[in-house]
Amino acid sequence: MTEIKPRVFSGVQPTGNLHLGNYLGAIKRWVALQASHECIYCVVDLHAITAQLVHDDLPGQIREIAAAFIAAGIDTDRHIVFNQSRVSGHAELAWIFNCVARMGWLNRMTQFKEKAGKDRENASVGLFTYPDLMAADILLYRATHVPVGEDQKQHLELTRDIAQKFNNDFSARIAALGLGVPMDVGAETVNGYFPLTEPMIEGPATRVMSLRDGTKKMSKSDPSDLSRINLTDDADAISRKIRKAKTDPDALPSETAGLASRPEADNLVGIYAALADRSKADILSEFGGQQFSAFKPALADLAVEKLSPIAGEMRRVLADPAEVDRLLAKGAERADAIALPILADVKRIVGLL
Ligand code: TRP
Repeated sequence: MTEIKPRVFSGVQPTGNLHLGNYLGAIKRWVALQASHECIYCVVDLHAITAQLVHDDLPGQIREIAAAFIAAGIDTDRHIVFNQSRVSGHAELAWIFNCVARMGWLNRMTQFKEKAGKDRENASVGLFTYPDLMAADILLYRATHVPVGEDQKQHLELTRDIAQKFNNDFSARIAALGLGVPMDVGAETVNGYFPLTEPMIEGPATRVMSLRDGTKKMSKSDPSDLSRINLTDDADAISRKIRKAKTDPDALPSETAGLASRPEADNLVGIYAALADRSKADILSEFGGQQFSAFKPALADLAVEKLSPIAGEMRRVLADPAEVDRLLAKGAERADAIALPILADVKRIVGLL
């Protein structure tokens, strides 16, 4: 009986352009985790067809996410980058989890309610069972840590519920087959097959808000392109969007308390701090008392310095789509090698010959 080794898994959907919020809130943290963990980063293309079946250029969108990972510094030799549909175990395990999860659990998912809107009868069945597929993504590798945004917290709780029900319902079989792994659940230690995955939720410091409205999250679905900085924006576009960003008329405060109820100021200072790997307090000790007319050019320079190399590298990677496909295929092969024995164990536990 072996221990489950620490492993990070996360995923991004290939829908729409990646923006600064995705970079600071997710990808930049994923890059940092490579130093301490074995990481698997997945372009979740099967999830992309749950809300909208037909896409103009799904292959292009998949490659764009992969290119962004590579451009941001994810090392595809030491860690794994691939697209979900190339590893069939995701769909297979999701089916088994459809039979583990209860209707009542999925009925409580707030993301489904938001995405389905008023016309729930017309939502795809895949959108409803989306969280089961997400649990399968994670548990197919028995991943122990999942870095995600706050909005995915409920899905990770569901993933733990699925792991726990599977471990409980099959505990005798898991033990008889010698597949149980000791794991701490609160004060007691139990034998189970799937780990109870730990969420690594981003702090509010990395939540990037719209440049047009500091109370709304930066989003790829905002109709105004001025509301976000896309990872593919060139230096001119980045500078222009920061120059036009909404602000209030006051000077910057010298302390973070002064950012309360100033959402736009808070957002711009937060972006500066995240890009510079410094605290907001530190930024305000430098810029406190200055007007936005002085702060914005400094922020634009910093954003261009940090982001335009990524945009340039993305363009370079995307110029050779066949090479991106080759990298994804290679990543999928390595993911599959981890997934296959786990899926085989699961089938034995369930009793599927
Ligand atoms: N649902 C996630 C999102 O929209 C994407 C995702 C799919 C994911 N599978 C995952 C994230 C597994 C982490 C782990 O952001």
